Amino acid sequence: MNSKKSSKKGPDVRVILYSGKGGVGKTTVSAATGLRTAELGRKTVLISTDQAHSLSDILEVELSGSPTKVAPGLDALEIDLDLELRNYWGEIQNYVSAFFRGQGFEELVAEEFAILPGLEELFSLLKLNQLVREKEYEVVIIDCAPTGNTIRMLSFPDMIRWYMDKFYPRDRMLFKLLRPLAEKISKVPMPNDELISSAEVLYQEVLEAAKILTNPAMASVRLVANPEKIVLRETERALTYLCLYGYSVDGVIVNRVLQDSQGNEALKSWQAVQNAYLERTRSYFYPLPVLVQPLNFGEILGIPSLRKVAHTLFGEKDPARVMYNGQPIGIKRVNGGYTLSIKLPAARREEIELWRKGDELVLKYQGVKRNIFLPRTLAALVMQEAEFGEQTLRLSFQKKEEK
Ligand SMILES: Nc1ncnc2c1ncn2[C@@H]1O[C@H](COP(=O)(O)OP(=O)(O)OP(=O)(O)O)[C@@H](O)[C@H]1O
Ligand SMILES: [Mg+2]
Repeated sequence: MNSKKSSKKGPDVRVILYSGKGGVGKTTVSAATGLRTAELGRKTVLISTDQAHSLSDILEVELSGSPTKVAPGLDALEIDLDLELRNYWGEIQNYVSAFFRGQGFEELVAEEFAILPGLEELFSLLKLNQLVREKEYEVVIIDCAPTGNTIRMLSFPDMIRWYMDKFYPRDRMLFKLLRPLAEKISKVPMPNDELISSAEVLYQEVLEAAKILTNPAMASVRLVANPEKIVLRETERALTYLCLYGYSVDGVIVNRVLQDSQGNEALKSWQAVQNAYLERTRSYFYPLPVLVQPLNFGEILGIPSLRKVAHTLFGEKDPARVMYNGQPIGIKRVNGGYTLSIKLPAARREEIELWRKGDELVLKYQGVKRNIFLPRTLAALVMQEAEFGEQTLRLSFQKKEEK
């Protein structure tokens, strides 16, 4: 059935995820993007994965767990955990409850435990698969929960792969034979065949979602930020993580940029601070495009206001296009160590100063200082060589004892 549906329309679905720190404007920008892609004639669906759903408030349209029409060519839905739990989770939830009961937890606590952290993320991935498979929409826009949860969602496939490798009974025959014995010596119930098959299906689904999300032609992540120190620091970290997990980031949106100080001195100095952050952002995230959304004096609510946001951000361009194709930061495993490559606007190696500061790498070039957060895998290693060519700085990291 799926293959028939797949051939219904031409090219693959385009998936855009908006991520960023809490309150920066992800939902606003997601909704604006969706309105514009729909206006350009691409059937679009907006998905809110955050349980503190504000998409319906911002659009001023009542939404539910299934797609609701918002504008011509645009539908939206808010992932409903209860609904998804009932649809997918029954079998596994029963097991998890039984597992915790076996460990001596009371009934109610066991039930609570069975609503595992990360479920929101898991269901978002499953929903994404379903929408991509059905090909009902040409553009899928995901309004993510704040950064931490997005990273958790995007690292979910890696995590589940790890669990499956560790705990998944590879030899099911052997597992069947051992089960009665295992059940005798352990109070913890063993998973039955049905459960194993549903876990298997779930696992395949998560891998499928990872395949979609790490395909740069299909999916892009866009980081939304404000011109403020703390927000930008979190956005910089998010970029490293996303690159590490192999996701393509194709742009940064700096929202709430003061455009007109109207002769007011206080606003003028605030504007100067913001401009400095904006410059820094352009240099830090090079070569990613940085789009700017002005600060609006007042909330942005309802479809007409959101259309204006889209117009300022994208002008006449298609917001669903891949805005940048490449990896601003790349991490590769090489000879037992890693190579970290960073794109830089500098022209020569001599222009770049670099040093380590704890788990950060500090780069200085063209008067800009850039602190790059190193993921844990790299922070524990020794930085050995640095070479620069084709606007890319390549650093090799090796284990200490390997001399
Ligand atoms: N450019 C702007 N100027 C003024 N207000 C804005 C701007 N962008 C967003 N807002 C307002 O800021 C608030 C938060 O925006 P939004 O809900 O889009 O952020 P978010 O990143 O999705 O937040 P959360 O992390 O809570 O999901 C809303 O009231 C919105 O109207
Ligand atoms: Mg939001």
